[in-house]
Amino acid sequence: MGQERIVILTGAGLSAESGISTFRDRDGIWAKYDYRDVATPEGFARNPVRVHEFYNMRRRAHGGVRANAAHHALARLEREHEGEVWIVTQNVDALHEEAGSRNLIHMHGEIFQALCAACGDRRRWTGDLSLETECAACGKAGGMRPDVVWFGEMPYHMERIRTLLEDADLFLSIGTSGNVYPAAGFVAEARSCGAHTVELNLESSEGRSLFAEAIYGPATQVVPAYVDRLLRGDIPHTP
Ligand code: OAD
Repeated sequence: MGQERIVILTGAGLSAESGISTFRDRDGIWAKYDYRDVATPEGFARNPVRVHEFYNMRRRAHGGVRANAAHHALARLEREHEGEVWIVTQNVDALHEEAGSRNLIHMHGEIFQALCAACGDRRRWTGDLSLETECAACGKAGGMRPDVVWFGEMPYHMERIRTLLEDADLFLSIGTSGNVYPAAGFVAEARSCGAHTVELNLESSEGRSLFAEAIYGPATQVVPAYVDRLLRGDIPHTP
């Protein structure tokens, strides 16, 4: 096993078998809600109560879930691979942390964190948020929001992510439909910098043609099997 740097993009499909809904599958979140109402700054300005209710419901739903075999396999990869392993997740759940991953970037924020729009304070938040919730730092009410990135907002840590992609030897995309940019563009960035690129997903994603290799199946099966392969020393390289 060598010193290769592995960068892994994860999406909702990774947590699906833990019991968290995906967004674009037939019974996914965007089949039940209009993202413009609940996941944009404009939707929040129009009807903050509706947005708080949506995220309060999702935060409660995330409360009882546990990391699955795919999260655990990725944490094992970070522990046992000689080179660096970084996970860039679009997921707002805390399942990578629960499994033990440490080199982790939450590019779309975290459901268990609250952000005060008035003073910028961020802190862990496991209960409900409302217009009456006061910021523990500045004391103002009305400006508290979930610390998640909405459509139209810039994802977090983009500079750091781009630096990681530039030096990646292997780029894996797991459980994401490839619909949302800038994450959907990472495969092209990694590939143009020389990385081998592999998609692991239940089915072919929007970006399938951009990957050098694809492996299909449920994350709890294909991810542990692929990690075993990598840890045996079978690191693929784009010729
Ligand atoms: P999507 O719901 O768009 O895609 C989930 C992908 O996971 C699909 O391609 C499914 O086929 C696949 N999938 C489902 N179950 C799976 C399983 N058991 N094993 C492996 N794959 C499975 O979710 P994301 O791509 O993560 O952003 O969505 C990206 C962003 O769009 C989210 O972060 C969120 C959403 O709107 C914001 O809210 C800003």
